[in-house]
Order: sequence, then C-alpha cells, then structure tokens
Amino acid sequence: MVRALGVPLMMLQIPDVLSQDQVAQCRAILDAAPWTDGNVTSGFQAAMAKNNEQLPQEGEAARTVGAIIRKALESNRLFVSAALPRTLLSPMFNRYGPGMGFGSHIDNAVRRDPVTGLSLRTDLSATLFLADPDDYDGGELVVDDLYGSHVVKLRAGDLILYPASSLHHVTPVTRGVRTASFFWIQSLVREDARRSLLLDMDIAIQQLSGAVGADHPSILSLTGVYHNLLRQWAEV
Ligand code: NI
Repeated sequence: MVRALGVPLMMLQIPDVLSQDQVAQCRAILDAAPWTDGNVTSGFQAAMAKNNEQLPQEGEAARTVGAIIRKALESNRLFVSAALPRTLLSPMFNRYGPGMGFGSHIDNAVRRDPVTGLSLRTDLSATLFLADPDDYDGGELVVDDLYGSHVVKLRAGDLILYPASSLHHVTPVTRGVRTASFFWIQSLVREDARRSLLLDMDIAIQQLSGAVGADHPSILSLTGVYHNLLRQWAEV
C-alpha cells in the first residue's frame, strides 16, 4: 500500500476481514434474527436522519456474530496496525431495505457498550459490509472530509475504517437489502495524524524487512523508534 506520507489517513479499506464462508455463516444467523427500528441506538441528531433496521445489541444473534467479527479483527494485521485498538465496541448490525437510508450526521463522541457496560471515546468508525454490491442498489456509505466526498460500497467481508469525527451518510436503498455490521474503536493513539504516521512506518518497516532481513541493524533501530513513538503517544 503506497500513499502520501504525513497525510492524515482519512479512510482505509481492509479487504477480506471475513472469508466468504464466514460471511455466509453470519448472514444465516442475522437473516433469521428479530430486527427492530434502528432509532433505539441513536442520539437525538442521528435519530432525526435515520431510517433503518437494527438488531438488539445484547441479543443472541448480535453476540454470536459479534464474537466472530471481533476474533477476525484481532488477527487482522492491517486492522490492528491501522486502528491501534484500545477498546472495541461490541459490533452492531443494521439493515436497509428499499426506501431506507441514513442522512448526514456525526456519530456520538462517547458510547456505552450495553454488553460490557464500558464507555469508550469513538476515535474510529468501522463498517463491515455483509451484503455484496450486486445484491442492492443505493446504500452507499458517503464520508465527507477535507478532500471531498468518498463513496464506499464494498464486497461482503470487506471493512472500511474512517475517523468517527467525519460527517457521513448512507444513501437510500432503491433495490434489495444492505446488511452490515458497524462499530466504534477507541484507539491507543487518539490523533488521526499520529496514528497515520505509525501506520506508514509500520508498513515501511515490514517492506524493508522483507528486502533486507528482519535482523538487519537498521530494522531493529527503526522498530525501536516505532515503539518509542507509540510509547510517547499511547493512552492506555
Ligand atoms: Ni454514523
């Protein structure tokens, strides 16, 4: 992955967080679960804009599929390196049928996890797509940042990570059903710019290590710098 160094990372696509078998397994559980009006979890501003269905967070289906997702994320190197997760909110699930969408909003800054009882600061938002783009029309996630509007519609099993401070919306679905998981992450490193530098450095070290060998003195030195920067910036 190559991108401009030093530019705060606004959005990162993480492919194949779930295998196609895992997607099918998750969808079988989710499709059989009892969905409710999505407004039960919104703040006031979001409730004004929201029109979708959601799964009860503490219900069995959400917990079972949430555990599959959490396990997949913990072993996903790119996710861990990019998000530097401190706390992950229990994954939630939403579904948009024809006519449903979610207008422009910014997510709440602090959220309480009804499963664990813990509160977290939402540094990063994540959407894990659980329906293939061919299965529905509309339903794009649109994230606005300094560089414009980014339209996101990924394969089932792929994830998009973006700063929770971003204004974003989901365009109305006009055909089919869009099913997804969404959740928030409190990062060890709060600032997007710092987290982006650490990701750039981690990727460069991995690439260099492949070229010159992991035991090269410069790799050891750069790895030390990475950890000492993380030590300066991490909040645990
Ligand atoms: Ni949102």
